[in-house]
Amino acid sequence: MGILYKSFMGLRLLFSAQDIAIKVRQLGEEISLSYNRDSGVVAVGILKGCFMFMADLARHIDVPLEIDFARLASYGDSDTPESEVRIIKDIEIDARGKDVLIIDDIMDTGKTHAAFKRHLMSKGVKSVKICTLIDKLQRRQVQITPDYFGFRVEDGFIVGYGLDHAERYRNLPELYVMETLSREDEDR
Ligand code: IMP
Ligand code: MG
Repeated sequence: MGILYKSFMGLRLLFSAQDIAIKVRQLGEEISLSYNRDSGVVAVGILKGCFMFMADLARHIDVPLEIDFARLASYGDSDTPESEVRIIKDIEIDARGKDVLIIDDIMDTGKTHAAFKRHLMSKGVKSVKICTLIDKLQRRQVQITPDYFGFRVEDGFIVGYGLDHAERYRNLPELYVMETLSREDEDR
């Protein structure tokens, strides 16, 4: 997609591919230092938003890594902190007694990750931490923060590098904010 097309679609560049690459490498190094060199960690990517971030991040993690994925759908109205999260696809690895790291594109209200973390803990895992590329702190509705994050953004709807709007833009190598989206659109 050319630059004119992007501005026509109301996409404003937030972070370049190079900004992202630098950040992802730093995150990988930080994560590698926090886990045991022998037992390693089970990385659980949340589909679909994680796919690009996880693929790049995994290359910079140098402790033994088991990779799995889950697919979640959040329901319930946006006013209740205890909204239910439906697990469409659960992890397949037996993670009992293991350290687990949830990897996702963005933490927004925090509801999805809070619920999925509870779900993983109930399986008897040793620990659960969360790594998101983006932390949209302003919109948090439950008490949770990512243990690792790449960028903290104030607000706005972000697309690119795995993040979508109506399933589009996931393939863009950079991160953009959608300037045409109103607050109502974002509270989808
Ligand atoms: P949460 O439960 O509100 O934290 O939902 C997190 C999920 O909402 C992410 O995994 C994304 O799929 C989606 N999401 C939240 N904010 C954005 C955004 O700015 N762009 C794209 N997806 C978003
Ligand atoms: Mg997602």
